[in-house]
Amino acid sequence: MRRAVIFDLDGTLTQSEEGIYNCVRHAAETMGYPVPDPETLRRFIGPPLYYSFRKYMGMSDGQADEAVRIYRERYVKKGLFENSVYPGIRRLLRMLKARGDYVAVATGKPQRPSERILRYFGLSAYIDRIVGPSEDVKSADKESLIRRALPADHEEAWMVGDRKFDVKGARHAGVRSIGVGYGYGSEAELREAGCDAYAPDVESLIQMLCPGMSAPHGTFLSMEGLDGSGKSTQLRALVETLHRFGYEVVETREPGGCRISEKIRELLLSRENVGMTEETEALLYAASRAQHVHDTILPVVESGRICLSDRFLDSSVAYQGGGRELGVQEVMDINAHAVHGLRPDITVFLELPHDVALRRRYGASEPDRMEMEGDAFHARVEQAYREMLRREPERFVVVDASESAETISQKIADRVLTRLMEREGIQWEKELS
Ligand code: TYD
Repeated sequence: MRRAVIFDLDGTLTQSEEGIYNCVRHAAETMGYPVPDPETLRRFIGPPLYYSFRKYMGMSDGQADEAVRIYRERYVKKGLFENSVYPGIRRLLRMLKARGDYVAVATGKPQRPSERILRYFGLSAYIDRIVGPSEDVKSADKESLIRRALPADHEEAWMVGDRKFDVKGARHAGVRSIGVGYGYGSEAELREAGCDAYAPDVESLIQMLCPGMSAPHGTFLSMEGLDGSGKSTQLRALVETLHRFGYEVVETREPGGCRISEKIRELLLSRENVGMTEETEALLYAASRAQHVHDTILPVVESGRICLSDRFLDSSVAYQGGGRELGVQEVMDINAHAVHGLRPDITVFLELPHDVALRRRYGASEPDRMEMEGDAFHARVEQAYREMLRREPERFVVVDASESAETISQKIADRVLTRLMEREGIQWEKELS
């Protein structure tokens, strides 16, 4: 018989305050009420809205009805997506699925928006049942939601939640509870309500629910492009999106990415070292990479997280193999000892003609030693990248870097998220706000 694990949504799986606060503010403003202070806004998370508008803002029954209507109007369009998955939750859900547990969500948030949120974040594939009240219910009692979320037969069941309502509801439904301290309730509140166990953070929740189980495989992502293609901006945007979706990302770079390799980076990029031979340069990039793979990339991927590197081996193939004309095979050979067959699972390539890229780069700040190279050098680098894209089209996510930064980020996010979820064996039913 399967173990059943039931989760609360807001404050347990997702961090939803931004959307909730914005919608409460909007309802207050529209109805001519003063905008509630942060302390009051915080209280809106968890209890039914109708209750909160009356209790915390002194509204009459009719006014509270109207406030809930205005709130929901904005919430379904915008508020729903002003939300993020707690770091580690995606890993936990993958692990519960791998154990064969029955997983459900019992939330006070109405059923439809709850389903949409979980679908938007690509989490619905990990959840067997989602239970929430229908839109017209004014107060949802947690006990009945939990009862409805339980499977027909189970020998062990746990409710995981961040508020006293979750703990008490679980007890009344005959289910044991784990209170989590990273959400909107306090340890005192959860203990007072009588939780059977307390997890201060997601990591300890994982230890409680999946003791001794190893993390699912992680992912190695890299980002490539010519100097001036907007790589740093896009890297930052991608990290932010991945975090919002509950991916645990460690950002790193080449040359560099760990203590020893950062020292090698200084040697490589310093304008004092214009006399460096092409072979020395290629070997130093490979040396820096060897330490980076060992110290950073492999440990991160093995821990089930995403390692996102600003450049990797492709840069050596393009700059040293193409730019310096050392040859693709020669550069691959030099790097064989450094990477031991490791290659990125997904590589984002920002495509931009070399002359456009370089003009942008020079406009931004002082060029480093590599960027001081002339037009012919960068034309060869571009050509070498093009050949790589032809050789391994399945690895690359190619994006036109001449569009606006926002358009580029959106395209990268959509395609990388789709690929990441494919790697998890699920299909992302993307829903736009
Ligand atoms: P990058 O960090 O992208 O530059 P910046 O931080 O100034 O935007 O890359 C540093 C330079 O090193 C860049 O010109 C590309 C070059 N490079 C190589 O020539 N070979 C390599 O293997 C790598 C990783 C980088």
